[in-house]
Amino acid sequence: MKLSKAWRLGVKDVEPMLPPPRHRGQSKKPTWIIVLVSLVCMFLVVSYIYPPQTSGACNIFSASRCQTFSSWLPTFIRELSDEEIASHIVIKNILNTPPIESKNPKIAFMFLCVRSLPFEKLWDKFLQGHEGRFSIYIHASKGKPIHTSPYFVNREIHSDKVEWGTISMVDSEKRLLANALKDPDNQHFVLLSDSCIPLRDFDYVYNYLMYTNISFIDSFSDPGPHGSGRYSEHMLPEVEKRFFKKGAQWFTMKRQHAVIVMADNLYYTKFKEYCKPGMDGVNCYADEHYLPTFFNMHDPNGIANWSVTHVDWSERKWHPKSYEKKDISEQLLKNITSITESVHVTSEERKETMIMPCLWNGLNRPCYLFARKFLPETLDSMIDLFSNYTTKT
Ligand SMILES: *[C@@H]1O[C@H](CO)[C@@H](O)[C@H](O)[C@H]1NC(C)=O
Ligand SMILES: *[C@@H]1O[C@H](CO)[C@@H](O)[C@H](O)[C@H]1NC(C)=O
Ligand SMILES: *[C@@H]1O[C@H](CO)[C@@H](O)[C@H](O)[C@H]1NC(C)=O
Ligand SMILES: *[C@@H]1O[C@H](CO)[C@@H](O)[C@H](O)[C@H]1NC(C)=O
Repeated sequence: MKLSKAWRLGVKDVEPMLPPPRHRGQSKKPTWIIVLVSLVCMFLVVSYIYPPQTSGACNIFSASRCQTFSSWLPTFIRELSDEEIASHIVIKNILNTPPIESKNPKIAFMFLCVRSLPFEKLWDKFLQGHEGRFSIYIHASKGKPIHTSPYFVNREIHSDKVEWGTISMVDSEKRLLANALKDPDNQHFVLLSDSCIPLRDFDYVYNYLMYTNISFIDSFSDPGPHGSGRYSEHMLPEVEKRFFKKGAQWFTMKRQHAVIVMADNLYYTKFKEYCKPGMDGVNCYADEHYLPTFFNMHDPNGIANWSVTHVDWSERKWHPKSYEKKDISEQLLKNITSITESVHVTSEERKETMIMPCLWNGLNRPCYLFARKFLPETLDSMIDLFSNYTTKT
């Protein structure tokens, strides 16, 4: 329930700067040059401190230029702290060390749920016949689930309470990753919720994730109140505002990336302390910002920037669309699986829409392997349709 107080950008916006009143005859040439030069300097300094957000300043340039506007302003080289140097070197080394090749590479499916998984029967159908190529992990935050599929029996990990929107959500993701990493055959890690369904058959999902060297982590720049507006300067100096990103939490991660998440304490602590509901009057949700920002800082080209889990925000409400039984049809699933562009919408008043082709190894591919949010009442229809929609790819 991510309700948040309305707050307005622009409070900090630059006061309109009017030129000083002119007095005829008084201004000599050098004076107006000095005034002009200082105005330009002030503009540069002010735009560096307050990069353009909702203001019309962006419109001077084309929309795409706008984002890089602050990048051609001078960047000050900062001396890194001991802890940062240590962190950077650990991350760099892990990224530069090729992962140990497994003879039996598996995908770890990691489920974050409250209790039982409504779609276990559907996942059972998805997994059947592929034994040995996957592992299941379940983080159930409120008690032991009842299982309907043998693949899920005894796959719960030690779990803890999860409060939506707080760091405990990130903690549960880290707990799942840590447990899944214990099996050296797990090469790719998929985080799923209890309202997620598979959109493709197992082989398609396996090949899509296994034969790529990137992680599908959602990460985009949202200059609006629900993006950069949630940034706190307490995160400085390690996390600068220009690196602060947003993205849905439902990731898939290659093994190296899962390991660097385990190795990080520095950035995790910054988000734990300064990205939380009610921080300086702003509701910041660590699960929507920590990983998108962390990977943007440390391996921007190693992540796809979109999530392979589809969700429909087109109703523009506080919550994405929940699919009911009456919504389920082969056409709906066909529509979702045929999407080849990812869409991000900013939270500014003008709601800028950013469309990006889902490129993978130079090829434009369908974007999605999974989808949410499906209500439990859709289970039977999904099972009836499963063979139909997954074979027609
Ligand atoms: C993801 O976004 C970052 C930041 O905008 C960019 O540097 C990176 O190249 C993007 N990654 C891919 C694979 O396009
Ligand atoms: C992934 O592989 C492609 C092609 O082999 C290569 O160009 C690219 O640099 C690799 N990316 C990463 C993040 O390793
Ligand atoms: C599928 O997409 C088509 C074309 O955009 C649209 O007209 C139709 O309503 C969609 N159907 C479903 C069930 O979403
Ligand atoms: C699945 O496809 C078959 C053949 O096209 C069709 O006869 C059947 O009705 C479909 N099943 C559902 C549940 O739509």
